[in-house]
Amino acid sequence: MEAPAHAPGARVEFRGVGVRYGDAAAPAVSNVDLTVAAGTFAVLLGPSGCGKSTLLRTINRLVEPTSGTVLIDGVDVRDREPTQLRRGIGYAIQAVGLFPHYTVARNIAVVPALLGWERARIETRVDELLSLMKLEPSRYRDRLPRQLSGGEAQRVGVARALAAEPRVLLMDEPFAAVDAIVRASLQDQIARVHRELRTTIVFVTHDVDEALRLADRVVVMNAGRVVQEAPPADLLTAPADDFVRSLVGVDAETRQLALERPLIER
Ligand SMILES: Nc1ncnc2c1ncn2[C@@H]1O[C@H](COP(=O)(O)OP(=O)(O)OP(=O)(O)O)[C@@H](O)[C@H]1O
Ligand SMILES: [Mg+2]
Repeated sequence: MEAPAHAPGARVEFRGVGVRYGDAAAPAVSNVDLTVAAGTFAVLLGPSGCGKSTLLRTINRLVEPTSGTVLIDGVDVRDREPTQLRRGIGYAIQAVGLFPHYTVARNIAVVPALLGWERARIETRVDELLSLMKLEPSRYRDRLPRQLSGGEAQRVGVARALAAEPRVLLMDEPFAAVDAIVRASLQDQIARVHRELRTTIVFVTHDVDEALRLADRVVVMNAGRVVQEAPPADLLTAPADDFVRSLVGVDAETRQLALERPLIER
């Protein structure tokens, strides 16, 4: 398939980022220094409560760090007006949050419409994204969210996040609510989208296999800290500590064999 016109992904940098909610005893995120290179598919992996969503949400200012700085292509996100910033950053979450009274097409078109795109350009873009998500445009364009399966709704959510050709796409457990077969198919689709568009993706999961399957770089977190940042294969062959070893350790050899086969063309 011919790659559509798009902006290449942006670089995302965390410098000494910490987040403490209210008067919580421990910070949710501590002193994170991390660079996600332009066009990278980065996966934040770690147990529940370790700070993955908090760190992700500092990128689009849904959470403001209490220390440190987040930069997108070298520009401090605090120098950007939040609403403007968010229009340039796709955000897809588990609870898809489609507008129930809007058709699929109108849901996907929300940000392009806000940005004042012309109608014809929006219509072309909607159909392009539906096709990319393997949803036949003529069948799905005019449906309402309640006429979709869970997996279809999640694909519409991803299409919406991609609509305005963002240079950064944030995904917070976007496939957690669907069964294993649908999830595998959604993983294939997002991997293909990434190969075609080279958008920078920061993807949160606590599923080790999902992380290994999708990531260029896996960022392992524990108790608010980044404990290892490495390509999937390195996590298996050179875990940074016992935490990482136990996280990936179960079936590490099987996982390594799986990585050696092109599950999805990497
Ligand atoms: N708005 C909030 N106010 C107060 N504490 C919060 C808030 N959001 C998250 N926390 C706390 O911050 C810590 C990190 O939460 P976060 O949601 O970032 O974890 P997570 O890694 O995404 O977990 P999960 O895998 O369960 O989604 C947790 O201890 C959580 O209770
Ligand atoms: Mg979370």
